[in-house]
Amino acid sequence: MRIAVFAGDGIGPEVTSEAVRVLQALDLPGLELVEGDVGGAAYRKHGHPLPAETLDIARSAEAVLFGAVGDFDLDHLERHLRPEQAVLGLRKELGLFANLRPARVFKGLEDLTSLRPEVAQTIDLLIVRELNGDVYFGEKGMRTLEDGRRQGWDMMSYAEDEVRRIAHAGFKAAMTRGKKLCSVDKANVLETSQLWRDVMIEVAAEYPEVELSHMYVDNAAMQLVKNPGAFDVVVTGNLFGDILSDQASMCVGSIGLLASASLAEGTFGLYEPIHGSAPDIAGKGIANPMATILSAAMMLRHSFGMEAEAVRIEDAVAATLAAGIKGGDLGGSAGTKEIGDAVLARL
Ligand code: NAD
Ligand code: IPM
Ligand code: MN
Repeated sequence: MRIAVFAGDGIGPEVTSEAVRVLQALDLPGLELVEGDVGGAAYRKHGHPLPAETLDIARSAEAVLFGAVGDFDLDHLERHLRPEQAVLGLRKELGLFANLRPARVFKGLEDLTSLRPEVAQTIDLLIVRELNGDVYFGEKGMRTLEDGRRQGWDMMSYAEDEVRRIAHAGFKAAMTRGKKLCSVDKANVLETSQLWRDVMIEVAAEYPEVELSHMYVDNAAMQLVKNPGAFDVVVTGNLFGDILSDQASMCVGSIGLLASASLAEGTFGLYEPIHGSAPDIAGKGIANPMATILSAAMMLRHSFGMEAEAVRIEDAVAATLAAGIKGGDLGGSAGTKEIGDAVLARL
């Protein structure tokens, strides 16, 4: 089990080391952890946020555990040198097109979300976010128009094969859950979204058991707080999925709880919390490591087929929360390491 560990910036190393401790505690057969530099940390050391040797380490591994990247002091750099390019580059270079972001309410947290408890407790959804296309990876630029005004531009597009493969990922995920798939787009305005919707309908013919619905993204943002229990699997593009998943995190309590799997065809995957480097709390030892620990569980499930071990981690996190051990993000006082210790004790 060769796992690349890219801790990154800010709270990235703090939360990643707790997830590593959890993996090490499981006595996994042949576990080998290989560290690599990413993000601002890699830029400062090697002059690039995603050095070739880091990419090589990822390619030599069966899975990547990723912390977070982002460093406001480097935001002046040309875009291709900014810390975020590490995660964007890994997603693109490794063909990680399907990003699974589950959100459910843990027992004991019903009163701690941004929603009323009776609404919050209905949530058990999965966002399937396309990760290799959309406005993220289109041509972009800054230019000065003839009249001297500056203009920034980013090209949004999806080709049908890109939509088709994430559609299959969405339908397959729905087949393993409640068999309801809601495709979120902005087809009333965007051609990109019209194609998206057309292809979703075409692919639906191959999954007659799944009930496909469509929703505009503005309405989806509203429904996510009004009636989130109505969602089972949501499939959406790169940008909408990014935004809706941060929103979903507060519907279940904290961004410090949301894990993710970024999958290619096959079993290779990159696993990371949905949150960033959180510069406002970095270095204080107070970040919630649960999202990263839960990402490690997703890794065992998706890349190594170790369902029982994945559930063991998820149960230990749930038991920790049920015991009232929480970080500041959930109104508690436990620090990063204390939360890691509590999860380890319950494994
Ligand atoms: P962020 O997710 O880093 O932080 C948003 C807020 O949530 C902050 O108040 C932070 O303290 C809090 N938070 C996040 N994770 C937490 C945790 N585990 N425990 C407790 N509180 C937590 O988003 P941001 O502030 O918009 O971005 C900061 C930097 O991170 C930027 O440079 C951004 O580009 C980058 N970023 C990286 C990733 C990634 O590596 N995949 C994801 C999102 C943002
Ligand atoms: C995420 C982050 C990234 C994204 C950034 C850091 C490029 O917000 O993983 O959700 O937008 O995908
Ligand atoms: Mn995001």
